[in-house]
Parts: sequence; structure tokens; C-alpha cells
Amino acid sequence: MSKPNLSVKIGSMDMQNPVTVASGTFGYGPEYAELVDLNRLGAITVKGIAPDTHLGNQTPRTYETREGMLNAIGLPGPGAQGFIDTYIPFLSKYSTPVIVNIWGKTIEEYGEVVEKLDDEDGIHAYEINLSCPNIKEGGSAFGTDVSIFSDVIKLVRTKTKKPIIPKLAPNVSDIGAFANAAEDSGADSLAIMNSYPAMGINIKTRRPVLANGSGGLSGPAIKPIAIKLVHDAAKTTSLPIIGMGGIFEAEDAIEFLIAGATAVAVGTANFIDPSTAIRVIDGIENYLIENKINDVKQLVGTVNYE
Ligand SMILES: Cc1cc2nc3c(=O)[nH]c(=O)nc-3n(C[C@H](O)[C@H](O)[C@H](O)COP(=O)(O)O)c2cc1C
Repeated sequence: MSKPNLSVKIGSMDMQNPVTVASGTFGYGPEYAELVDLNRLGAITVKGIAPDTHLGNQTPRTYETREGMLNAIGLPGPGAQGFIDTYIPFLSKYSTPVIVNIWGKTIEEYGEVVEKLDDEDGIHAYEINLSCPNIKEGGSAFGTDVSIFSDVIKLVRTKTKKPIIPKLAPNVSDIGAFANAAEDSGADSLAIMNSYPAMGINIKTRRPVLANGSGGLSGPAIKPIAIKLVHDAAKTTSLPIIGMGGIFEAEDAIEFLIAGATAVAVGTANFIDPSTAIRVIDGIENYLIENKINDVKQLVGTVNYE
């Protein structure tokens, strides 16, 4: 059998394969460039960018759990201008499309950051972080209130023609309502899911293990939650979904595709093995060959209920 077609489309953005990296787990690209061939990725998704620089939370900001990690990094970043000056020249040397994850403390700031970034040819899509569990302002509340969620997407839509990909919160009672609201507000795709609001306590000091008090759980522990959210969202919307949550092996990614994701993102696994995304790409290709499937899109949303 000839090589299967791995390419997928997220709005108008072409990906040579369905595998990107999850925002916040891969820096802005240079941090991983010596370890991973960035040209092989389907897309590079960078850490969250706000209109201006942001410091993030006090340490400790991460904590290892059984089957995952807690983090409350608090979205430190160089701001829009810092990203343009420092990282776009670097990322533009690669053929891989760049998805910029954006966030704001207010609804207006989401518009502002896109306004500042949108003239850059080196940016191919925006992932809108509406679901960060680690910051006090904006972010987390926006992703669980369908009306604010829609307002942010509508505002971003007025600022750009590039694909916009709202990132959904997992802690909602009806993911379909958010998927539909995103579609009605002009989104091109959905990213599902962000880390799950979570907490740990040191029993000696009785202090929270994270300086922020609580944070987000990621890694293998959340994969079954993410699979269900992707599955349920795919039933209600025709938008392509980028699925993520605990992908460590190709088999995990294939499960997401069958659940209904068009593409996937590798997150926490990058901290353990930076080459995970490449292994996942190769593993998907092998699975397609073994199962005589000539296009990865044929796998999407094919859960067998018989
Ligand atoms: C250390 C860390 C930092 C993260 N930073 C961001 C971020 O800046 N923006 C965002 O939308 N998601 C962020 N996330 C969430 C991930 O992109 C992803 O949605 C989540 O971790 C689930 O995938 P995983 O289990 O494969 O890590 C972060 C996750 C971790 C672990």
C-alpha cells in the first residue's frame, strides 16, 4: 500500500499531519527545536500570549500526581510585541503552521491581542484560551459562561480572517452548548480540552501543593474525560476538533480521532519525552497502513456501537 494521506484542514489552515503540541507544554518553539524536528509537526501551538507581558504565579507552580500533573503557571509571557520580536523570526524559518494561543484579563483584551498580532504572516491561526483554571482574572470564568464565551469569540472574529479555535473548559455540564455557541459565533474549530480544575494538599504543612492554591490537572489521568468531551462535542457540531488530554502514545491519539477529533495535541508528555509528537505521527501512519486505511480523515468519528 502507498503511504496514507495524513493531511487535515483546520479552517483554512492546512496541516501535513493531524498532530500538534498543546499550548504551554512546548514553549514558543526554540526551547524544543534541538530535540524535535519542528518541520515534522502538523502545527506548532505556542504558550499563551496576552496583549502585554505577564509574570505568572508564584512558585511552586507544578506538582506531579499519580498519572498526571497539577500546574498553576499563571500564563507568564512576553506579550504580543515580545512574541513578534523574539519568536516570529525564529518560527518563520520552518514550514510548519503556527497556532498562537491567546488570552486576556478582560473580553476587550482578547480583541486587543489579536489586533496587535494579526498583520504577522508567520501566524496561521489563533487558539483562544477561554478555560485556564490558574488565573484569577478572566480566563477560567469565560469558558464556563456561554454568553461571555460567545462574546469573546464574536469579538475575535471581527479582528481576523485567520482560523480561530476556542479552547473549551472541561468543567461544563453540556459541552454541546459550548460547541454550538462557538460555531454560531464564527469559530473555525474547537480545541478540547484544557486542564481540569484540581488541587492537592501537603498533609504535613496543610498547605496547598501549588502556591496559587489550586490549578489544572493534565496527563493520562484526564484522557477518558477528554475522549468523552470530544465525542459529545463532535455529535453536536460539524467544526473540526483538536483533541487533547493525556496523549502519550499513538494509540491515545487514534482513540481521539475515532471519538471525533480531526487533529490532536500532545501536552504533558512533552515534559517526559520531547519526541512524543513525532512518535505519535509515525504511529498513526503505521496504524493506517496496518488497517489498510488510505486517509486519516476516514478514522474521524467512527466509534462502533454495534
Ligand atoms: C505546564 C502547562 C502549561 C499550560 N499552559 C497553557 C496555556 O498557556 N494555554 C492553554 O490554553 N493551555 C495551557 N495548558 C493546557 C494544555 O495545553 C492542555 O490543554 C492540557 O494540559 C491537556 O493536555 P495534556 O494532558 O496532554 O497535557 C497548559 C498545560 C500545562 C501542563
